[in-house]
Amino acid sequence: MSPSELGILTTSGRRAGVAPARKPWIEHWLETCRDLTALSGTHPMMDAVIDEVDGRMIRVGDQWLADFASCNYLGFDLDPEIIAAVPDYLEAWGTHPSWSRLLGSPVLYEQIEQRLTALLGAEDALVLPTITHIHMSVIPLLAASGTIFLDARAHKTIYDGCQVARARGAAVRRFRFEDPDHLDELLSAEADPTRLVCMDGVNSMTGNAPDLVAFAEVTRRHGALLYVDDAHGFGVIGERSPDEPSPYGVRGNSIVRHFGESYDGIVLVGGFSKAYSSLLAFIACSTEVKRLLKVAAPPYLYSGPSPVASLATTLAGFDANERRGDALRAHLHRLCERVLTALARLGVATPNRSGLPIIEIPLRDHDRIDRVGRFLFERGVYVTLAAYPLVPKDEVGFRVQLTAANTDGEVDRLIDSLEELAVAGELRPVGDR
Ligand SMILES: Cc1ncc(COP(=O)(O)O)c(C=O)c1O
Repeated sequence: MSPSELGILTTSGRRAGVAPARKPWIEHWLETCRDLTALSGTHPMMDAVIDEVDGRMIRVGDQWLADFASCNYLGFDLDPEIIAAVPDYLEAWGTHPSWSRLLGSPVLYEQIEQRLTALLGAEDALVLPTITHIHMSVIPLLAASGTIFLDARAHKTIYDGCQVARARGAAVRRFRFEDPDHLDELLSAEADPTRLVCMDGVNSMTGNAPDLVAFAEVTRRHGALLYVDDAHGFGVIGERSPDEPSPYGVRGNSIVRHFGESYDGIVLVGGFSKAYSSLLAFIACSTEVKRLLKVAAPPYLYSGPSPVASLATTLAGFDANERRGDALRAHLHRLCERVLTALARLGVATPNRSGLPIIEIPLRDHDRIDRVGRFLFERGVYVTLAAYPLVPKDEVGFRVQLTAANTDGEVDRLIDSLEELAVAGELRPVGDR
């Protein structure tokens, strides 16, 4: 095939033929993403334009829907006290400082890092705009030219951070999901003294937390560093307490505290963009590592900062969490229990064993995703569709996320729709694989 048939540009930059053809890599990706492309082109629950919100109800065109696709787990995006805190910060700092952090950071950053360090009970913490920024810059630094042991089902952004590390000379080996024994085997067989283990905390698909105590024991025994992304746990799960109002624990101070672990040999990454509804993320680490990141992590050196409104909602979120967080988490836990109890009564499968607010519901037949999604949309229920290739074909379905801002009425509507789908045989029964 000639360059002109492929539509490839000539070295002079002009197209070398008249017939406009797509480039082969575009064809490859369109084919890989065919199901998703078809869905996102036509489906009302994909790539939607949200016209209006009212509490956790959203309007798409003429249709009002109960939103079960939000990750604002504590409902802070709608919290009047947090919203009211923002104008004073804008008055004081403007909308956006625009310095990279190396150039200069408003004192708000120091306040956030101090409060976060105290909440987590960590040695130190550094905040940067997003978790993606952190993975892409910190994983390659920590891995150097050593070996990364990567959770096979880690979040895509962790994978991407590992790819950058690989390009800089690190080796990457994958261990089986939720399998500390397999990690143990791989670490035992590895001679490389620089070892970094990368994994998710609360998993964004299953809604379950890994057995952190077992993973920490294996990594420490092999002299490795454990790097955990708890984007979905921070703000939801926290340290256990005899008088905790729900099994999530108290204070929402993330997975390390939830499992009663120390930060010895553990680097914790999390974000404010889910439970705290703010564009900001953190790495909890030793002061020594923080010092290194402040001179070597590109997002600290070169990236623009988070908007002032996000720094403000983070600080106001700490106050709200201290005063009301445990009550919000108890409400959230009760809503999740209602949904999980309904699924059990209907005999419908879900990987969620934790009671946490991410409830994946696989379909009996992956080809029915379009129909099932449209049905839910018509019933006024908005969920995240998990289509192929976002998930393997045998896991195609939809994900329900609950937040403290959802009402019992919205959950009633969800359960009624799930019941109709179960009766119609659309959802995978328990025990069916
Ligand atoms: C586990 C996990 N890590 C990282 C991210 C990306 O976070 P950020 O938007 O802060 O880059 C997400 C987002 O959904 C996530 O679920």
